[in-house]
Order: sequence, then structure tokens, then C-alpha cells
Amino acid sequence: MSSGGFRRVGVVGVAAALVFGVVGAVPLRPAGAAVVCDPAVPETCTLRQLADELGIRIGASAEADEVEPGPYADTLGREFSSLTPENALKWYTTNPAPGVFDFDDGDAVVGFATTNAMEVRAHTLVWTQDTYTPDWVKAVNDPDELAQWVAQHVVTVAGRYAGQVQRWDVINEPLATAGTALSDSVFHRVLPPGWMASVFSAVRAVDPDAELWINEYGTDWVPGKHEAFVALVRDLLAAGAPIDGVGLQVHRPSVDGPDVAAFSQQLRDFTDLGLEVAITELDIPIPPGGDAALLDQAQAYRRVVASCLAVPGCTEITVWGVTDANTWLDGLGVFPTPTRPLLFDDGFAAKPAYDEVRAVLAEAVLARRAGPPVDAPTGPVTAAPAFTG
Ligand code: XIL
Repeated sequence: MSSGGFRRVGVVGVAAALVFGVVGAVPLRPAGAAVVCDPAVPETCTLRQLADELGIRIGASAEADEVEPGPYADTLGREFSSLTPENALKWYTTNPAPGVFDFDDGDAVVGFATTNAMEVRAHTLVWTQDTYTPDWVKAVNDPDELAQWVAQHVVTVAGRYAGQVQRWDVINEPLATAGTALSDSVFHRVLPPGWMASVFSAVRAVDPDAELWINEYGTDWVPGKHEAFVALVRDLLAAGAPIDGVGLQVHRPSVDGPDVAAFSQQLRDFTDLGLEVAITELDIPIPPGGDAALLDQAQAYRRVVASCLAVPGCTEITVWGVTDANTWLDGLGVFPTPTRPLLFDDGFAAKPAYDEVRAVLAEAVLARRAGPPVDAPTGPVTAAPAFTG
């Protein structure tokens, strides 16, 4: 597992570039692409190329119908190195009735990721919010019966995708949406304390190679929620839960903030526990009408990405959707619509937010190339084995 060191998806590509003596503009795009990325000219790079060199993942969420051939899928495969099924692996999709499982949507999204050499953040096994829990699960009052259904669910679904996905959001949103206590959900109400640690252990047993994550909403802006989440994660680790990483959703309420120093310290609070941390569901809504807000939005995206890049062990930035046309926020009823919270507009054109994310990634690549190698060995240097390929 990753607890001994952070997994760096781009290391192989960087190592290959070094072995072959490539300097300056390094061709980083996976096979099949003609573009050469020069971070000094960010327009020549995709987000994915830059993230690869930084050894982090840049991800997006998608639905099964969005990975069908077309411009949406093209954008996904070109720009992103990680894919999060937006709804395809949730309990209500995979296990809609007792003992009934449906993997059609999950297979479509995971299959697309595999074909496009993307990693999969499998999302999610137990979403601890009644709003999103199937009625048949919410109707169970007996602790033993609910524990059996939970065990069947996680073992069946995680087992089905073992070897195909790199990480699981095992528990999603354990805390109240706008509070600091445990959420008022059937799982917390009916199951005994310790149930979350048991779920992590069950998933580890059925898919020993997947990283196991816990994912939470609103820690970046709900007062006291970050501290409550740190305490919860500490408790779970103390109880023996095999957790590799902590996902922070970062659905921002507006273009204000976050403060880079304060937010990166929040990320560090988790890496200090020996865990990876990631931004897993980034979106930043703006008011309808006018283009000025697009520039404020771009700066807010820059601050979020810069916060992650400032923290070794922040290994992923995933946006919650690709184009403004498909954002979940327009259907949420919380913000005036259209909310336009993502990196591409309705016509797949890159927005200022895209340019700013690309720019901050490119700056980080240039800084890394100028400085000492981040992953350099610290011990005595020995001769590299002969390359016999
Ligand atoms: C949202 C999806 O985007 C919607 O399509 C669905 O109707 C509800 O869920 N936190 C999460 C995500 O962990 O799974 C949610 O996704 C957004 C909030």
C-alpha cells in the first residue's frame, strides 16, 4: 500500500525521459498523441501532460453516457489522467434492491478509463447520507441485518472491480453536511461504533491492491468541519482502519478564497498523519451573466490548485464534471443558474479557469525542472543497471 511513500503515476514517464537524455520539451503524452508539451509555452500542453510530469493526477468525474464516443469523451481522455464515476458506482446504481447488482454503468466508465490509460477513483461504497441511500437500505432497523447488507454490498462491488480500479472512496461524507457531528444516517444510527473501520478492513481483504480513501464535503469552508474530520480520521486510524488517503471534495461556495496558506495547512494536517490527500470533487460556481466572474473564478481555481501543489502528498486534483453544461450544481437548487462552475464551457471551449489551472501546473513543472529532483534517492548513488530492452 501507499503508506510507505506516495504513489507517483508520472515517475515512469519522467524516468524514461531522463534515461533517454531528453531535455527541454519532453514528450509526455501517452502513445498516439503528436503534441509535444513545452511548459514554458503552456498552450502546447494538456493538463494531463503537466500533471504527469509533476507525478500527480488530474481527474474529472463522468457518467456512463458521457464516455460514449464524442467530444465529451475526447476531452476527458485528452486532458485528464484519472476518472471518477460520478454516479455509476454508487449504491443506488450498483445495488438497487436486496441482492440485486447492476454493473453496466460502472463497466462503461471503468472500461473507458482503462482504454485511455486513466486511473480510476472508484466512488463510492458507503455514502453516509440518507438522501442518497436506497429506501430498502434505510428501512433496515436491525444492526445484524444491516451489517450483513453492508458487507454483501462492499464485498460484491469492490470484489467486482478488484484489479481494475486504483482507489476506492470507501466511506463518503461521514459527517453532517453543514456541521461537525456524524451525519444523521441509517448507518450511524443502526450500526455499532466501529462499523466504518470494519468496512475499510473488508474492502482491503477483497481488493488488497486498491488504495482506500475516506472522502468528505465542506471541510474547506464549513466552520469547525476540518478539525472534526481530522479527529475522525485519527480515531479511525487508531481503531486500525486501513486508510491510505483522505479526499476533500472542495465544492466551493463562491469564488472567494480559499486562502492558500490556510488551505494547504489543512491538506498538510492529513499528510502529517502519513496519509495521501486529494482534492476530489472541485467545482466553483459563479453568478449568471457577464464574463467578469470568469476571471475571478480562474483565480479561485489557481488558489485551490496551488494549495495542493504546495503539499508533498497531495496527489490528485479532480474536477466534478468537464463542461458547464453537465454540472450537477445546476440541478441542486442551491445556486442561481447557470452556475458555470467547471473548466470548459457548454461548447467544449476552454475557459479562463482552464487556462489558469494549466498555467499554475506549468509553473510548477518549470520550478521542478529548475530545482533538485523531488524523488531523488537520498542514499549513495550506485550505477544504474544496464538497459537491455
Ligand atoms: C452528485 C452527482 O453529481 C449528482 O449527479 C447526483 O445526483 C448526486 O451526487 N458529493 C459527492 C458526490 O460525494 O457523489 C456528489 O455527486 C456531489 C456531492
